Amino acid sequence: FTKERVCLIGSGNWGSVVCKIIGQNVLKHSNQFEPEVRLWVFEELFNGEKLTTLINREQENPKYLPGHKLGPNIKATPDLLEACQDATVLVFVLPHQFVPSVCDKMTGHIASNAKAISLIKGLEINAEGVTLFSEEISRRLGINVASLSGANIANEVAEEKFCETTIGCKGEEKEGEMFFNLFNTPYFRVNVIRDSAGVELCGALKNVVAVGAGLSDGLGYGSNTKAAIVRRGLLEMRKFGQTFFGDVVQTETFFESCGVADLLTTCMGGRNRKVSEAFIKTGKPIDVLEKELLNGQKLQGTLTAKEVNEFLTARNMVKDFPLFTTVYRIIYQGLEPEAIVRDI
Ligand code: NAD
Ligand code: 13P
Repeated sequence: FTKERVCLIGSGNWGSVVCKIIGQNVLKHSNQFEPEVRLWVFEELFNGEKLTTLINREQENPKYLPGHKLGPNIKATPDLLEACQDATVLVFVLPHQFVPSVCDKMTGHIASNAKAISLIKGLEINAEGVTLFSEEISRRLGINVASLSGANIANEVAEEKFCETTIGCKGEEKEGEMFFNLFNTPYFRVNVIRDSAGVELCGALKNVVAVGAGLSDGLGYGSNTKAAIVRRGLLEMRKFGQTFFGDVVQTETFFESCGVADLLTTCMGGRNRKVSEAFIKTGKPIDVLEKELLNGQKLQGTLTAKEVNEFLTARNMVKDFPLFTTVYRIIYQGLEPEAIVRDI
């Protein structure tokens, strides 16, 4: 029996929080995991010093998660291949737009017995088709990939405020148990289910609904309006899943943390909501607001709205998803914001 060696691919806001959780859990389950956790960092300078140097010296990510210690057993490296060398568990936690380029670099350089889990909230989507990132990573690297998604605003999890999350794992039961041990804590409660596709779809599509919620907030509409957007959004999320992925996506999954709970928290307290509200209030473009308000963190919902629209347009189905379509048109086509209630 060899112990699992864990590597995180990504070290942003959520990546850093998850790194802290994993760092503690590998020590707790020392019979199952090697104590050192490798953290691949997209290198950049922070206050004139390399981020990796700072993380390794201060045991903290001062840019993406200031004020929280990641732990002494974390080894940050800017070298992707060094990070994933010999790793048997790969945790993908990147903004979705960077996944293809990162996977390209990893191809042919990972351990043959590696398995992975994707914490990415987004879809690999274009006019030709829609692919889950777990499938995409699996196809590119030739390994099994589970998924994790839930009502998990990173800064709240970092403060150890109670929440739940969902792991979707189609593999053997012992793989689900291994991921449970890697992530579960008293304040971060994991439920493992088999509908991995549903878990991922929820995580990606709720971001588009959250953009709609932010537009509504920006217009000064109330809680009732936002609740209506959330309800219709949930229906479109399920319809999208069942139309394009069929029966593998289970209705029950929408009642897990990855479903309705994540939709609610993102529509109340997430970055997509915040930036979309500012889009209405300031009239500034989304990319400008992303830079001004998020300090290097990345939005997923506006890009996903665009990708989903491209996909639906190619199938002549935009009318079947009025909320997704209206969000896209307001953000990208200059449609008047009031359409967020008028056109859905
Ligand atoms: P983030 O939004 O903090 O993004 C910044 C990260 O992207 C940094 O690590 C940065 O170094 C990296 N980056 C910038 N340019 C890059 C490039 N060219 N190539 C590779 N990396 C680059 O990231 P995050 O919050 O860790 O989010 C990762 C995923 O987790 C997203 O899909 C997000 O939706 C999801 N998620 C986020 C939260 C949250 O509250 N932050 C919670 C749950 C899930
Ligand atoms: P935002 O990216 O909108 O902040 O959502 C974070 C999240 O996914 C919470 O679960």
